Amino acid sequence: QDPRISKISSAIRVIPNFPKPGIMFQDITTLLLDTKAFRDTIDLFVERYRGKDISVVAGIEARGFIFGPPIALAIGAKFVPMRKPNKLPGEVISEEYSLEYGTDKMEMHVGAVQAGERALVIDDLIATGGTLCAAIRLLERVGVHVVECACVIELPELKGRDRLGDKPLFVLVSST
Ligand code: PRP
Ligand code: MG
Repeated sequence: QDPRISKISSAIRVIPNFPKPGIMFQDITTLLLDTKAFRDTIDLFVERYRGKDISVVAGIEARGFIFGPPIALAIGAKFVPMRKPNKLPGEVISEEYSLEYGTDKMEMHVGAVQAGERALVIDDLIATGGTLCAAIRLLERVGVHVVECACVIELPELKGRDRLGDKPLFVLVSST
C-alpha cells in the first residue's frame, strides 16, 4: 500500500453517534486541516486519473465539491456539480435515489456534459452506494461513459461496492 495512505487514514476523525446514535461519522474536515495529507489525497487521485482521457469530473454535493475541483484542474477536466434538488438554476435532469428513510433527488445541468464524454465521479465516502449509483445513472442517461467512481473512504460492511455492479470503484481508505 502507498505509504501516504496511513497518514490520510489517521487524519480522518471518527465521531461516534453523529448524526444519530450508532453511526460512526467519518469526518473529513480534519483531513482538510492537515495540509500534507490533503495534498497527498488529491495527488493519489491525480496520479491515477491523469492521462486517462477523462474530460469530466462529476462531484457529488456536498463533500464531493471539496475533492473534485482540485482533481479536475490537475487532470485538465471540467468540473460538473451533482446537486441536491432545486439548487441548480438552469434546466436540469434529475434522478431519485433511496436513503435510509425515504428518497432524495440528485440533479445535473442539461448541457454540462455531452454524449460520448468520459467521466470520473467523486465523493468523500461510499456507504450503501445509492448516491454513487444515482450519479452514474444521471451521466449514463445522457450518454456519458463513467470510467470509474472514486471516494476517500469506503464502509465495506455496507456493501456499496456490490451495488455498483461492474462499475469500477477506487477508494483510499477502508473503514471497518
Ligand atoms: C453522505 C456521503 C455520501 C453518501 C454516501 O452524504 O457524503 O455522499 O452519504 O451514502 P450512500 O453510499 O449510502 O449513498 P450525505 O447524503 O450525508 O450528504 P452530504 O454529503 O451533503 O452531507
Ligand atoms: Mg455526501
